[in-house]
Amino acid sequence: AEGLHAPHYPWNHKGPLDSFDHASIRRGYQVYKEVCAACHSLDRIAYRNLVGVSHSVDEAKALAEEMEYVDGPNDQGEMFTRPGKLSDYHPRPYPNEEAARAANAGAYPPDLSLMVKARHGAEDYVFALLMGYCDPPAGVEIREGLNYNPYFPGGAIGMARNIYDEVVEFEDGTPATASQIAKDVVTFLAWAAEPEHDDRKRMGLKAMILLTAMSGFSLWLKRFKWSVLK
Ligand code: HEM
Repeated sequence: AEGLHAPHYPWNHKGPLDSFDHASIRRGYQVYKEVCAACHSLDRIAYRNLVGVSHSVDEAKALAEEMEYVDGPNDQGEMFTRPGKLSDYHPRPYPNEEAARAANAGAYPPDLSLMVKARHGAEDYVFALLMGYCDPPAGVEIREGLNYNPYFPGGAIGMARNIYDEVVEFEDGTPATASQIAKDVVTFLAWAAEPEHDDRKRMGLKAMILLTAMSGFSLWLKRFKWSVLK
């Protein structure tokens, strides 16, 4: 069965000329780091990608340095661990898929880098999913280890509800209601899936302005050139 269709929510970045809410991306990163990263990888985002988007260079460096990476071999042929650097990608929570499934009652937590683009309903779906946990309707049995969520196709999802009021404490003082947390993490994931989004819209606006000016000019030129033949 298909999941319940998600409602449309008024995302800050949805209009043709709207950029991302970068304060929301920053809070959403905090949610990914403190909640989702326990189970979900984010393979396509390196620490350097956060610079100038949600964090300063020094902040991104500090975030990377909290993590440990296996590197090598060195000149003795040995592997070694070192703190992360800006060029490192986010580490995965599990060494492989078997370990991930073993920790999640058989379900596999997918990589979140492109999740917003990968699912029908995009931002609206992920938000509705995160906020949509409820009791199953009468007569619907949910297998042990699964959770009822009407937005998930099939209704029984391996991920338990993990967004509640105050599950994070935002460093910018934004009240951490469940819906605020879900909105911010989805905004972060929307950016992760399309980091070029703001540039794309800015270029689009420039192109529209330039093309309008150029077609105006060619219209004038055409009338001017042909005026003697009238
Ligand atoms: C699946 C998001 C936290 C375990 C998913 C899916 C999304 C998602 C979008 C895919 C649903 C689909 O396939 O359509 C998030 C976000 C999180 C978060 C944004 C943080 C706010 C967690 C945590 C765990 C977890 C902490 C583990 C304790 C799983 C599992 C699945 C899943 C096992 C696969 C479910 C299935 O296929 O039945 N998550 N998740 N997630 N998540 Fe999470």
